[in-house]
Amino acid sequence: MVAKMNPFKPSAGHVPPVLIGRDMVLADFEEGLDNGSGAPGRLMRVTGARGIGKTVILAEFKRMAEQRGWQVISETASAGMARRLLDRLRPKQRSFSFSFEPSVSVMNVGGSLGGIHYEKTQLPLTLREAMGLRLDELEKHGGGLLVTIDEAQAAERSDMVAIATASQHLTSEDRNIAFVFAGLPSMSSKWLNDDVMTFLRRAQPERLGDVPLTAVSQALADTFDSTGIPLVGEPLRIATHATAGYPFMIQLVGYHIWHRARRRTANMKGDAVAVTVEDAELGVADALSRLGDTVHGPELDGLSPIDKTYLLAMAQDDGPSSTSVIAERMGKDVKYAGIYRMRLLEAQVIEEKGYGKVDFAIPYLREYLREHAAYIRMTLGLPDD
Ligand SMILES: Nc1ncnc2c1ncn2[C@@H]1O[C@H](COP(=O)(O)OP(=O)(O)O)[C@@H](O)[C@H]1O
Ligand SMILES: [Mg+2]
Repeated sequence: MVAKMNPFKPSAGHVPPVLIGRDMVLADFEEGLDNGSGAPGRLMRVTGARGIGKTVILAEFKRMAEQRGWQVISETASAGMARRLLDRLRPKQRSFSFSFEPSVSVMNVGGSLGGIHYEKTQLPLTLREAMGLRLDELEKHGGGLLVTIDEAQAAERSDMVAIATASQHLTSEDRNIAFVFAGLPSMSSKWLNDDVMTFLRRAQPERLGDVPLTAVSQALADTFDSTGIPLVGEPLRIATHATAGYPFMIQLVGYHIWHRARRRTANMKGDAVAVTVEDAELGVADALSRLGDTVHGPELDGLSPIDKTYLLAMAQDDGPSSTSVIAERMGKDVKYAGIYRMRLLEAQVIEEKGYGKVDFAIPYLREYLREHAAYIRMTLGLPDD
């Protein structure tokens, strides 16, 4: 029987059919849970590029913790995060009075010093107290509390201070609590030089990267097989290679090839339902165009005009670029170009490839830049050469 539903999940935060190549980080977290308060895995920071699988890892951590009878509070960083955390920790009737305080007061410096004062002095204390009370309940039955913060690079300092303070106290009291922060690599540099954030420096770093192609190949083959559509031989090789080991692309490639094969073979039986080279090639092309819309476009939108100029200069090369040649192409000195090189390295858009060389860290970004170079130049107000 051929399945009717596409098993692949090419959308942010959706748990994939097979979580490929993440055994180490899952084992680290599991150890943290089982080894009790003070274990390294009880305080973690998970970093990696967009689409590498950070949100999915947090979902997996949540599942593991819940299996052990823990309670999990998952937040995504944005203004007012600590306050939202507090609201979720407090018994319903008590949170009532808090929800009445307009949350905008925190940002509106002008008229509401009371709100600011509250955030600075009371919130960390209250958060710690609320977590402590919740832990009193949970620990009675051998449970604990896991707090996960996604998109941590976007957190406001006051929120992080509140959470850090609460965390430090509860950990020193040996409470059964765990914190995991996930975010873009820039989060490390954003917080780690801040004195108040020394606690994050102690967090176990887990850098998520691309997954090995042998594991990708196996997972693709298994997933297709489980739906009654075999993917083997050359089509499997094409599919595997096209993913570049990038988790989001694995889902896109799987999804679009499956879709093509399923549609073509809708009324067929037996061996005829296997994926063909043509299915694989067309599916990869579909996947690539979706990757551009959902990853490359937004990634570039978040960069400054000069960052983009730097990337366009790199895209002229077929492989790693020499940093001095890039500076020359930009018409700038090496020192100036170096500032943008650092920024792009930090954002994990590019990576170092030996001495004085850089390359793209996001799969197919080179191809995307080339294809859209004229348009990008236009938006930057640069001449079209
Ligand atoms: N280890 C993995 N193996 C296979 N697919 C994965 C893996 N991790 C994530 N994915 C898929 O990649 C996509 C992006 O995952 P997500 O967790 O949203 O990334 P991030 O939060 O880092 O931007 C999702 O479609 C998800 O199903
Ligand atoms: Mg995410």
